[in-house]
Amino acid sequence: MKKDYEKQIRELCGKMTLEEKVGQLQQCGPSLVGAFEVSFEELLDMMFDGRISKEEFEKLMGTAEQDFHEEDLRAGKVGSYNGIGDAATINRLQKIAVEETRLGIPLLFGYDVIHGFRTVTPIPLAESCAWDQELWERTARVAAEEATAAGVHMTFAPMVDVAKDARWGRISEGAGEDVLLNSAYGVAKVKGFQGEDLAKENSMAACVKHLAAYGAAEAGRDYNRVDLSMQRLWEEYLPPYKACIDAGARAVMPAFNDINGVPCSVNAWLLRDILRRKWGFDGLVVSDSNAIAECVCHGIAEDKKDAARQAILAGIEMDMSSNSYTAHLRELIERGEVAESVLDEAVADVLRIKYELGLFEHPYQTNETREQNTMLKLEYRAVALEAAEKSIVLLKNEDRVLPLKPGTKLGIFGTLAADRGQMTGAWAIGARPEDCISIVDALEANNVHYQYSADGTDLSKIASMSDVLIAAIGETKEESGEAASRADITLKPKDMELVRALCATGKPVVAVLFNGRPLAIPELDQTVPAIVEAWHPGLYAGSAIMHVLYGITNPSGKLTTTFPASAGQCPMYYAHTNTGRPGGKSKFTSKYLDAPVEPLYPFGYGLSYTTYAYENLALEKDEDGLWVRVQVRNTGKRAGEEIVQCYVQMPCAKRVRPVRELKAFTKTALEPGETKQAELKIAYDSLGYYDWEMNWIPYEGNLKVFVGGNVRDTISAEVILGSMSSEMCE
Ligand code: NOJ
Repeated sequence: MKKDYEKQIRELCGKMTLEEKVGQLQQCGPSLVGAFEVSFEELLDMMFDGRISKEEFEKLMGTAEQDFHEEDLRAGKVGSYNGIGDAATINRLQKIAVEETRLGIPLLFGYDVIHGFRTVTPIPLAESCAWDQELWERTARVAAEEATAAGVHMTFAPMVDVAKDARWGRISEGAGEDVLLNSAYGVAKVKGFQGEDLAKENSMAACVKHLAAYGAAEAGRDYNRVDLSMQRLWEEYLPPYKACIDAGARAVMPAFNDINGVPCSVNAWLLRDILRRKWGFDGLVVSDSNAIAECVCHGIAEDKKDAARQAILAGIEMDMSSNSYTAHLRELIERGEVAESVLDEAVADVLRIKYELGLFEHPYQTNETREQNTMLKLEYRAVALEAAEKSIVLLKNEDRVLPLKPGTKLGIFGTLAADRGQMTGAWAIGARPEDCISIVDALEANNVHYQYSADGTDLSKIASMSDVLIAAIGETKEESGEAASRADITLKPKDMELVRALCATGKPVVAVLFNGRPLAIPELDQTVPAIVEAWHPGLYAGSAIMHVLYGITNPSGKLTTTFPASAGQCPMYYAHTNTGRPGGKSKFTSKYLDAPVEPLYPFGYGLSYTTYAYENLALEKDEDGLWVRVQVRNTGKRAGEEIVQCYVQMPCAKRVRPVRELKAFTKTALEPGETKQAELKIAYDSLGYYDWEMNWIPYEGNLKVFVGGNVRDTISAEVILGSMSSEMCE
């Protein structure tokens, strides 16, 4: 049961000066000061625009020192830090807060623990391809064990931004394009991060982000505007945040973008009417980094003071890094532009999460010994390997090139085959390259007969001595994640040149892809007989890939994001509407002249070393939902796990509905020849939608139900739905 700290909060608040209250809302990161005369931001720009090289940048950074703003901390002007992830520093700063500030209020330490802390697991987009809530929760638990041992109290995760545009770099940080999957993924992560009791030393608060619809950034360009109908916002984008809040997430981060012209950071409708009143959220709202100040740039605030005023009134409680509240809140309150009660509410929410985390009772939740003993435990590493294996999606396997027979001699090509540091993907701050296993490392450790060439030199010689050639190609970790949108999502020319050269040798070629987004790879698909989508798999990249290549693991991952055939198709997603003229042979239909209308690989798709058949689909209505039962048979010679997917279509509704909507899924393990019945339930509540006037309409009439191993290859049945509960279920 949730403990009530309201009395303590009121008493403490009563003792605080205005400045101390504002201080609690201040979250800062360590700033860099050092032997360079430009600001850190300018230095970063210099590296990105090529004025200095990456090496020069790193050299300068090496000389920099960190400023932890200790004077401000002593004066009670800091409530929280972001981006500090080591027990010694955290305890040192905590000691100042507890022993040297007037009221001794402990600090809250936040950190981006996105897919593992030190034991880095696959990027979220990859892990979502496991369609496995239990696994998602376990990897989050591992992350929490390690991060809390390093002193972290709150993670800025999960990101549950539904992302339908492959150009958006942050598609790598979430569970793909589907609303149901993002909800299930988010809930599992919240449970895993927060554990059973937030006050336990190995639990950390989950800060769900980015409210809202950040993934709908126009043209897939990061931070771009979001212009969305209310219907689509409610049906396709908001449910995952709500699901996380219902699962108990204690913090929320509003998004950088505007929605229909109002930036989320100053959007009172979003942060007060929806989040607080409608959804009943009583946790903490933390801005995104510098997002309050950026409202000036958006063109909605006159200056930083105005931005601070609008943000606090809209409901942003903690200011991450923009210093807008510390600079202006006091004056805004003294001049009556913001009521002190608004500030008090925000302070109460900061104090509440600190109480809930047990920080008042145990401000020092870890120490260096626990930190050292916790990292990279064997059982954590086993989870990372399992997650990497389950995230891999086999996209193509013609002529049974895979699995490789024992003793196959391999020729390995491409820098990514040996680059440990690249295996972790975006947002793996605590990762160390030396912890990672590359493909070459894994082959070496297992005495596989292989020869390696990073750039294709010695190609002919290696090819003549090999049975199968492997091309490790795709994206670097810097090419996805924040501020890493791409307009051209094809493979780089040098990668395709390598592939063509490998194919010209006449040896079978297996492409292993590392990437943080779907890539448009029609040429690759036509050129090589086998494609393994490895994403950025984390610490055990090489081992997991080797296990899949050799069939030690039978791949079971399925795409949670559609692979377009060309960037021009973006946004490309399965849950589109039919239009009045669906793409077909005749000219006047919805299609392109120069690209197919179909994706390259559909949503839910992924091969295995065995095959499955779906039979005897039966539907049965009961009081609150529809039972979907289907027999799934393993028709091949190997044991495997199949992800059974259930989609619906509402062919005649008051607002047009998508051609398919995922409503349920399950994973089933099958021995060769074995048949099992998969049973799925679709709640009637999940079959509603919004009409033109934003009334929630329960679906009535003919419902088509599709079941299969991906959205394209399904069997179907129909059922007539009568009137059902018209309860709002957003
Ligand atoms: C900016 C990102 O948008 C957000 O996801 C992240 O948590 C913060 N920076 C803090 O690093």
